[in-house]
Amino acid sequence: MQGIHPEGNPSPGRIAWPGILLLFPCGFRTFHIEGEQPTGSHTGEAHVANSKTIALRKFVAPEFVFGTGALDLAGRYASNLHIRKALIVTDPGVTAAGWLSRVAESLTASTIPYVVFDRVSPNPRVEEVMHGAEVFLTEGCDVIVAVGGGSVIDCAKGLGIVSTNHQTVRTFEGVDNVPEPGPPLIAIPTTAGTSADVSQFAIIADMQERLKFAIISKTVVPDVALVDPLTTVTMDPYLTACTGMDALVHAIEAYVSEAHSPVYDLHALEAIRLITRHLQTAIEQPDDLDARAGMMLGSLEAGLAFSNASLGAVHAMAHSLGGYLDMPHGECNALLLEHVVAFNYDAAPERYAAIATALGIPPGLTGPSTVRASIRARINEMRTTARIAGSLAGRGLKSADIPVLAEKAVKDPCLVTNPRRALKRDLEVIYEDAR
Ligand SMILES: [Fe+2]
Repeated sequence: MQGIHPEGNPSPGRIAWPGILLLFPCGFRTFHIEGEQPTGSHTGEAHVANSKTIALRKFVAPEFVFGTGALDLAGRYASNLHIRKALIVTDPGVTAAGWLSRVAESLTASTIPYVVFDRVSPNPRVEEVMHGAEVFLTEGCDVIVAVGGGSVIDCAKGLGIVSTNHQTVRTFEGVDNVPEPGPPLIAIPTTAGTSADVSQFAIIADMQERLKFAIISKTVVPDVALVDPLTTVTMDPYLTACTGMDALVHAIEAYVSEAHSPVYDLHALEAIRLITRHLQTAIEQPDDLDARAGMMLGSLEAGLAFSNASLGAVHAMAHSLGGYLDMPHGECNALLLEHVVAFNYDAAPERYAAIATALGIPPGLTGPSTVRASIRARINEMRTTARIAGSLAGRGLKSADIPVLAEKAVKDPCLVTNPRRALKRDLEVIYEDAR
């Protein structure tokens, strides 16, 4: 006989993840459907197929178009929204690469007037978001077209919700703290990694407090993502490496997340396989469109996974680190990942076994320490091949900084779904290992 039983509540003081919170506003609950005991091998796929536990999950994603020429559809999609005027959000690098003019031509062809806001830093700042909202309102715009990497799209998300809620962007920090959605947002990514074009996340830097904060809400999911792999051929090798490693971390953290589900798992594992296959070629041969498309697809799939399953300790620690040292997000992630895997491994060995296979590690290794060591070695190899070498000490991190970083990271909402509970002291040890 089958039945459904609610089980569990959040640990005291922990924040519920919105995929669960939206279903159960007053608590973090898992529902079990009774069935057969799991049997068979211990791979992640087999575990899913035979599991007796099917937790309720929802899948949030925008409409997206993937393929060469997608960015030329901006005008058509904006036109369908019956808008008066568009605000194009971009940055000087994207403008120089020629992608802004392509999108502007598309809007012009659909007779849509626009203004351009391009004052966005690599880590988008509170002041830039507020300034962008002011431009949006004073220019009488009613749609946002974001053309750029994660920084540009996150800034666009932030200025959109500021323009409708008339509050400072810091007000929206955390999970489900956005009262009113922003105006329609068309996102056109020009990097393969952040997946801001499909995600429920926006990361903004508060330079006065030297931190980045996360806004996590269904209201910041773009209305449409136009994902064109061709836009990534103008990325330099280091940006390709950092954004690619970011995407890898998204996929790994989503797969081991406490909020994982069979649907998210499909995307997470395929993303790991795609990134493993294509990252090095994309770095070394920037014009290789197969590699660029593989990375863009890997990034998209990782985004679909993590936007719904959330992330973990790598991102919690990277947000704190990146805000403190103003380092690129993907670089922070790449330098922390292997150390977080070492910390988390015992909490989810079956899941890490599936990750090892997706990373191309030959089967047949025996013993958890062997698999753990192999994954660490593989990640280390990928990041050093991508020329994200060295450690955090070489980038200016001092031991004396670590308690401050850990204090901020332990409050980051991404830590809620980490497979192993991490206290401030645990994060201090991981930072020290990575230093
Ligand atoms: Fe990320």
